[in-house]
Amino acid sequence: MDDELIDLLGEGAHGYFAGGAGDEITLRENDHSWSRLRLAPRVLVDVSERDASVELLGRRRPSPLLVAPMAYQKHVHPDGELASARAAEQTGTGYVLSSQTTTSPAEVAAVAPADRWFQLYVFRDRQISLDLVAQAKEAGYEALVLTVDFPVAGWRERDRRSGFKVEHPIALNPEGPALTTEELFAMHDPSLTWDDIGAFAEAAGMPLLLKGILRPDDAERAVDAGAAGVIVSNHGGRQLDTVLTGAEALPPVVEALAGRADVLVDGGVRRGWDVAKALCLGASGVLVGRPVLWGMTRDGQAGAAAVLEQLHAELDSTLALLGCPRAADLDESFLIRQ
Ligand code: FNR
Ligand code: LAC
Repeated sequence: MDDELIDLLGEGAHGYFAGGAGDEITLRENDHSWSRLRLAPRVLVDVSERDASVELLGRRRPSPLLVAPMAYQKHVHPDGELASARAAEQTGTGYVLSSQTTTSPAEVAAVAPADRWFQLYVFRDRQISLDLVAQAKEAGYEALVLTVDFPVAGWRERDRRSGFKVEHPIALNPEGPALTTEELFAMHDPSLTWDDIGAFAEAAGMPLLLKGILRPDDAERAVDAGAAGVIVSNHGGRQLDTVLTGAEALPPVVEALAGRADVLVDGGVRRGWDVAKALCLGASGVLVGRPVLWGMTRDGQAGAAAVLEQLHAELDSTLALLGCPRAADLDESFLIRQ
């Protein structure tokens, strides 16, 4: 599969999208930590009707699944973010647009009217971030996802070797020239602290989630700072190698927040049963990243939609075979931790 993707994307772009930090130990562990959790099905339950809906940010939604924010999608397919956003819309999946988008928030809003959140990075030039928030607000995004695990870029050896450059215009570099990811990531503000969060929450005027939380004490601080939710994430293994995985970090965060805010998780979710396991551990939403990009690489919107359709179908099958027809009823009793 990698060879096919390298052929389609080229070595540099493939390395950027597929890669992780350091020895990619966390990148691999992300997938394994979901596989290690064993399911314990209940039998002789009427599962003739299944319901995957969950409640998130006070709203009932048909599925717990969202497309994770991912940068520079025109390097994956010429349709870029329009392809992934349309695929999300078509399959009833939530969508989070990256602030490193190669398509404007308004253009994405036009093709995916429902269920859109906007992800924000705080750049050294904070005005660029504030302008993006204003655009997201104007285009009716429902929530702001502030990513807090990226004061500097992770140690990414594939990009160091390839010198991959982002050629498409983005808010951070509207007119070019093409810049390496190292040059772009140097524009992130490494001085961001808890003291700054309130100002962005206020500018947003929409529910705020903090993405990249791995510790229960940080999760509590996020809620104290006004966040409506946290996304437990190690950034797909792309930041600090050997950190704990989403599956490992989730239970203590859920316990610490005790229902005070929504908890979502991502990293290595590849199958519908992984989604179910996250819900068993107390998540109310689950983000999926790279599989959507691989679908897009092969066949744009249709490829991404096929990946999302399959995840939804696998989740439905899991609810039936687990003897838990309502996703909202999944709990730890369906899991054995190894
Ligand atoms: C990301 N991720 C990310 N996160 C974010 O908050 N803003 C961003 O712009 C990006 N960009 C980005 C690009 C690429 C190529 C990848 C793979 C990831 C992280 C992403 O939202 C998510 O946390 C992980 O990708 C989830 O892990 P999986 O599903 O890819 O294993
Ligand atoms: C990445 C950024 C942009 O992981 O989030 O490459």
